[in-house]
Amino acid sequence: MDEAILQVRGLVKHYPLTRGVLFKKQVGAVKAVDGVDFELAAGETLGIVGESGCGKSTVAKMLVNLEKPTAGAILYKGEDLTTLSPRALKSVRRNIQMVFQDPYTSLNPRMTVGDIIGEPYEIHPEVAPKGDRRRKVQDLLDVVGLNPEYINRYPHQFSGGQRQRIGIARGLALRPEIIVADEPVSALDVSVQAQVVNLLERLQTEFGLSYVFIAHDLSIVRHISDRVGVMYLGRIVETGTDAEIYDHPTHPYTQALLSAVPVPDPAARAHRERIILTGDVPSPANIPSGCRFRTRCWKAQERCALEVPLLAVPAVFRDTDSPARHDSACHFAEEKHVVPSGTGSEGTERPGGPDSGSHLP
Ligand SMILES: Nc1ncnc2c1ncn2[C@@H]1O[C@H](COP(=O)(O)OP(=O)(O)OP(=O)(O)O)[C@@H](O)[C@H]1O
Ligand code: SF4
Ligand SMILES: [Mg+2]
Repeated sequence: MDEAILQVRGLVKHYPLTRGVLFKKQVGAVKAVDGVDFELAAGETLGIVGESGCGKSTVAKMLVNLEKPTAGAILYKGEDLTTLSPRALKSVRRNIQMVFQDPYTSLNPRMTVGDIIGEPYEIHPEVAPKGDRRRKVQDLLDVVGLNPEYINRYPHQFSGGQRQRIGIARGLALRPEIIVADEPVSALDVSVQAQVVNLLERLQTEFGLSYVFIAHDLSIVRHISDRVGVMYLGRIVETGTDAEIYDHPTHPYTQALLSAVPVPDPAARAHRERIILTGDVPSPANIPSGCRFRTRCWKAQERCALEVPLLAVPAVFRDTDSPARHDSACHFAEEKHVVPSGTGSEGTERPGGPDSGSHLP
């Protein structure tokens, strides 16, 4: 991998669970994020997938300083953001911006589009002096494919897709290097998802952006990502290039997720095996011992309850040049070809098209 622009080491976010009204006593913790490691190279897209509640948004919020980590390090170009003074952090933070999921609630309805997109300049006036802001905002509207003359309109005068373009323009205002996009197309109609994904791809090339792209639609993640991390109960359980993860998954959880991807071709569909996970996702306040996936894993053995599997290349693949040679946190990692090839699940089809409804439960 090229030199990392962002390195995340042992990132943890625990929310205390308390009891009592006057004398609050901590009785446990919701382990929303429980030891996440990844790297992001300049210009690449890292996709993060996983079921609802596995901690994706909490990771995103920590990356952009909306949540303070309980432990761990977030290194931007080698500098740990979690230990910087507020003043130093403010200037570095400019370079990491977020695009939110819901374009309907993330834009203030009482502000004009010009004020919404230009708001970051209030905090960082050095990027755009007052007299220059209107022109800068109009340039941003143009860049995201909106008419610059819309600058005085209000959010309700736009469609969902257009609102997400406004959110993206705001994310770009400070000319960041990294965009953390948390489910940026999930709230949009399927027909406009592709347009927004295409816009994000064009902007990446135009501005040399690096993306952390969070979603639960596996087809969209494959389409946009260079590498993918699969999260389960606060940890990344498997990570690799998109081809390694989608075509050569070795972790049972990834295999189960992929087995639920719709296969458009009926002949290929007849040959694929659906892996139905039993049981509910355990509470993040009560994580199973050993492997956190063991309560739902069809391969679980005694060792799985005793030993935490580390996210590393499994020993069986270490001396091979197989695409299965990528990080997987499983004691019994095995390659399993789940998605039949040539089914369109390679992400070559239009993202967000009728065949991409591979939403996680
Ligand atoms: N402020 C908070 N206090 C307590 N628990 C929280 C808080 N924020 C999140 N959680 C819990 O942390 C866990 C992870 O939440 P998070 O929003 O990061 O999940 P997610 O992967 O983004 O889910 P989704 O796909 O539904 O957006 C959940 O169990 C959630 O209930
Ligand atoms: S370590 Fe055991 S329980 Fe965990 S995924 Fe592997 S086989 Fe399943
Ligand atoms: Mg979320």
